Amino acid sequence: MNTTDRQRLFIQDVAVRDGFQIEPRFVPTEQKIALIDRLGRCGLAKIEVTSFSSPKAIPMLADAEVVMRGIARIEGVEYAALVPNLRGCERALACNVDEINLVMSASESHNRANLGMSCEDSLRQFAKILPLAHGATAINASLSTAFGCPFEGSVPAGRVMDLIARLTDMGIARVSLCDTTGMANPAQVEDIFGSVLRMWPTLQVTAHFHNTRGMGLANAVAALNAGVRHFDASLGGLGGCPFAPGATGNVCTEDLVHMFDSMGWNTGVDLTELLEVAAALPIIVGHDVPGQVLKAGPWTRRHALPPTQGSPAMSPSNVCAGVRA
Ligand code: COA
Ligand code: ZN
Repeated sequence: MNTTDRQRLFIQDVAVRDGFQIEPRFVPTEQKIALIDRLGRCGLAKIEVTSFSSPKAIPMLADAEVVMRGIARIEGVEYAALVPNLRGCERALACNVDEINLVMSASESHNRANLGMSCEDSLRQFAKILPLAHGATAINASLSTAFGCPFEGSVPAGRVMDLIARLTDMGIARVSLCDTTGMANPAQVEDIFGSVLRMWPTLQVTAHFHNTRGMGLANAVAALNAGVRHFDASLGGLGGCPFAPGATGNVCTEDLVHMFDSMGWNTGVDLTELLEVAAALPIIVGHDVPGQVLKAGPWTRRHALPPTQGSPAMSPSNVCAGVRA
């Protein structure tokens, strides 16, 4: 990584975890492994491979160990896994993950719905996990519902700041703020990330947006403007927490990379390669996916002029009529 490159962004794909956890149909283990291996060759900074949650809570990721041990680790890519509790940490460490992504919510009700415990209990779990994981792996903490909760509504920014203070006091150096059900707006995003980075300038902060209300890319630009350089996104725009009513997909990785590329940022990602991987996704999951650039092509795509342009038979009104027909 070239740390002097101020235009460098870090794109972290979460499709095989956040995406597959909510899929109605189990994606076979070997297909998960093959997909991760293809993603690993696209230049992504990090891939969230799976979660070491209870298989009763997340049956789609019950094959976490097999997937984690089956993938080819490509140098320069971090392979992370979500961990909700101490048992999950032990399982993740046994598989040599590069990063444990601890998860808890900023709102009490979503924490209970998702993890069956209070926020304080989650923090107590983290305190037990840290001595185990320290030195063995990097540790990130994800705060779900950081911009709003589907049960409680607004989540005060002060609450998010207090939780980050608790996490950093424990020695955690990486934090993701997650908009679990797409409730964030760009003004709020710029405000919160701005405050966080002013308060903790060396904290590695990740923006994790869901596009549930169509604000995902706008929120990503707002986070960028606030100084965020690490972004979660999901191939094809899959994703969603099964314990958050109304949850839908993450910001789509190829759409995000395309946007940042066209703005002149270095994402490190090979968009052409990524689009090829994305093209296989509808077959893997068995349905269309929300990503837009795959359908429209990158902005550099050019179409041939209609060969008979200008002739009366193909006047614009006739062409439109043809399209309508
Ligand atoms: N991995 C595997 N099994 C686990 C586990 C883990 N991390 N944590 C608990 N279990 C098992 C226990 O051994 C126990 O098994 P048993 O019924 O065979 O005895 C069972 O799960 C219940 O354990 P308990 O401690 O009572 O947990 P719970 O049922 O209250 O569930 C969580 C708590 C945190 C494990 C569960 O809610 C969970 O996995 N949530 C994650 C949700 C998630 O990933 N959401 C999407 C991300 S936003
Ligand atoms: Zn998410």
